[in-house]
Amino acid sequence: MENKAIPYGRQNITDEDIQVVIETLKSDYLTQGPKIEEFEVAFAKYVGSKYAVALANGTAALHLCALALDVKKGDKVITTPITFAASANCIRYCGGEVVFSDIDPETYLLDINKVRNLLEASPKGTYKGIVPVDFAGRAVNLEEFRALANEYDLWIIEDACHAPGGYFTDSKGEIQNCGNGKNADLAIFSFHPVKHIASGEGGMITTNDKDLYQKLLMLRTHGITKDAGLFQNTMDFAAGVENQSAYPGWYMEMQTLGYNYRLTDFQAALGLSQLNRADEGIIRRREIALNYANAFKNKPFIKGQSDSVEGHAYHLYVIEAEDRVGLYNYLREHKIFAQIHYIPCHLMPYYRDLGWKEGDNPLSEDYYKYCISLPMYPTLSDKEQTFVINSINNFYIG
Ligand SMILES: Cc1ncc(COP(=O)(O)O)c(C=O)c1O
Repeated sequence: MENKAIPYGRQNITDEDIQVVIETLKSDYLTQGPKIEEFEVAFAKYVGSKYAVALANGTAALHLCALALDVKKGDKVITTPITFAASANCIRYCGGEVVFSDIDPETYLLDINKVRNLLEASPKGTYKGIVPVDFAGRAVNLEEFRALANEYDLWIIEDACHAPGGYFTDSKGEIQNCGNGKNADLAIFSFHPVKHIASGEGGMITTNDKDLYQKLLMLRTHGITKDAGLFQNTMDFAAGVENQSAYPGWYMEMQTLGYNYRLTDFQAALGLSQLNRADEGIIRRREIALNYANAFKNKPFIKGQSDSVEGHAYHLYVIEAEDRVGLYNYLREHKIFAQIHYIPCHLMPYYRDLGWKEGDNPLSEDYYKYCISLPMYPTLSDKEQTFVINSINNFYIG
């Protein structure tokens, strides 16, 4: 059968999405216009946080989180090896030291017990923070991580790039949305095209902490503020003449070393339009996950899989498969472009150069030998998914 290429993930751009981008391009604003705030307000409402800050991409969001939390040279921060490099790199941008701690092989998430062991093995104050990742869209139990972080006076950045719309249920039976700011100090999201919400490039930080929020706004735009309530120089200096009772209209101050990490208004318009369909996207992702889970249950060639899990946002659907290289190549021959998430971050040459080596995180390394991410996106049709499942069965059973 001559099928069209099936990627592991892809964006879905509708005519309505295109229309709102065109309207924004025809408006007075290209960057930092009204769509930015609309997107931020709508996104904060979607995840249930007080504040949201739109940014150029998820990596910029991570960098600003590390800056806002004052990560400095030598500060030790814990994260998982099974993530995209940016989750760790943000700490390095600020001169901090990344400590990779192993995963739970059932959930593929940072194992809290291993993190506890690390913390207990060193004097209090050794570590500054934790970056748990809602890998593949599965929500980390941040209530448990918060309790541990409180014992050791640590901050938490939740990397929720894979999990807008994901949640876990806390010990009181209450649903806690990824990025709602209840347990993590800051959470970050990405709007890269393979993610749930696509804006080309794009990112968001959510938080419930007003001070951090204000810091982030400044850091996003060169460390500049236009808020007269925050100005440090005198009105006389600002105006260039004596006895002033107000700051002149043009005046602004650069108070800290910031960046240009702004999102454009037309990207925000696209993100907002996509956000309106986020719920239906998640419903479809969960249906696809259930189909895979049923198809691969008790199959001898499948060692593990993402499975059907409540609250999972299914950015990815991972199976752990025997002869993973053979399967990957076979699927490619049939134009099914599966992908691998992730090569353990601590074994990237950059981190090897910093001293990390094979055997440091054995469960992540074992997971890497078998993992393969199958096609997962809302517009994947039933027919295409059946073709993927049949192709996998054919590879093993013939
Ligand atoms: C877990 C995770 N963190 C951070 C990022 C960085 O996001 P961006 O590509 O928008 O910079 C990604 C994106 O791939 C990611 O998957």
